[in-house]
Order: sequence, then structure tokens, then C-alpha cells
Amino acid sequence: MIKKFLSRFSTIGKITNRANFSDVHQKITKYHFGSDAFMQILESRYSCHAFGNFPVPESKLNMILEAGRLAPSAKNLQPTRIWVVQSEEALARLRSVHPCYGAPMVLIVGCRNEEAWIRESDGVNAAKTDAAIVLTHLMLTATDAGLANMWIWDFNPSKIREVLPETREHGVYALLAIGYPADGEGRPTELHSVRKPLEQIVTML
Ligand SMILES: Cc1cc2nc3c(=O)[nH]c(=O)nc-3n(C[C@H](O)[C@H](O)[C@H](O)COP(=O)(O)O)c2cc1C
Repeated sequence: MIKKFLSRFSTIGKITNRANFSDVHQKITKYHFGSDAFMQILESRYSCHAFGNFPVPESKLNMILEAGRLAPSAKNLQPTRIWVVQSEEALARLRSVHPCYGAPMVLIVGCRNEEAWIRESDGVNAAKTDAAIVLTHLMLTATDAGLANMWIWDFNPSKIREVLPETREHGVYALLAIGYPADGEGRPTELHSVRKPLEQIVTML
């Protein structure tokens, strides 16, 4: 009981430290239900457009990958694959077709339609939805681990397959650049604070 009580404080401490790199410094009292800590992860995440040249610690990478593994998928078919691009050689190959904002590590998320559930009523394949959930887990866990990140979708999949033939058997869904933000340029962009008000995106029926 006492152990559980104390571990709550250490978790809060970790989260508060994690948020230091972002523009969010709030006391954990804003939300009254559920986990303030989780909401703070969502608030502190932003798309980083410039990374510094510091490597991502292996322990953080392991946590991020485990979070990807825990993602749900339609009928639990798990059609998603992740390629960790972190060696100088692999990064050079990837950067020859996309600069990836100088990130020291890029996770390539791919999926196979053949391995995913297909909805019977209209034939829609769940592979890309499953991949998006995995990527979201990776992105938010990277944020929780104090790492800046960037979801990259504006790339040419066939060029990626050309320079990284290891991905050829799968559709390349998206890239997640991960690292530490570069001074100045690594801050959130203006778009980060632009969100539609709830009234525009929610309809109560
Ligand atoms: C599916 C998806 C694809 C994205 N692709 C790119 C991209 O290729 N290049 C880019 O600069 N930003 C990309 N972004 C980042 C968005 O532009 C960014 O999330 C949005 O402007 C809001 O800013 P924020 O992430 O800092 O809150 C992408 C985001 C998502 C969710």
C-alpha cells in the first residue's frame, strides 16, 4: 500500500521532468478525472522540425518499441512492422531520399494488407489503421521518454523501398523521426497551437 502510494509520486516526478523540453509547464491539477499525467504527455507532444546530434539511449528505444508492440489491431492480426534506422550507414541511405530533419533515429512503420483484417461489409482493409495506432503509441511514448519526434508522411514510398530493400515486402506507412530538439529550430512551429474548437469537431446527438 505504502509502496504504491510512493510510486505515484515518483511517476509524477518523471512526467514533470519529461515535459521540460516542451512549452508546457503545468501543475498536475488541470484535469479532474483519469490521468493528468497522460494528458500532459498529449499536451507536451509537438512536431520537431530540427534535431540535435545526440543519440537516443537504447533503454528509451526499448520502451518505445514495447509501446508499439502493445498497440491494438483489428482482430489482433498485428500486420505492422517497424524498422529502426539508427546506424550511420542506414541513416545515410534514408537521408539520400529524405532528410528526416537530421534525426539521429528514424522508425519506419510498415504494414501488409495481406496480414490485416478486411471488413466484410465494405471490403475496407484495416492495415493502415493498425499502423497508425502503432505509430501513435511510438510517438506518445517517445514524448513520455523526453524525446522530441516528428511524424513524416510526405515521402516517396518507392524511393524508401529502393534505398532500404529490407522494407520491400511491406507497404511503408510512415516514418517517425526521434531525437532531441536542436536549439531554436527544434521548438514547436506556429501550427502547433492551431486547433479547431471542440464545437467545430464534435456533434452531440
Ligand atoms: C499523419 C501525419 C502526417 C504528417 N506528415 C508530415 C510531414 O510529412 N511533414 C511535416 O513537416 N509534418 C508532418 N506532420 C506534422 C503535422 O504537420 C503536425 O502534426 C501539425 O502541423 C500539428 O503540429 P504539431 O504536431 O506540432 O502539434 C504530419 C502529421 C501527421 C499526423
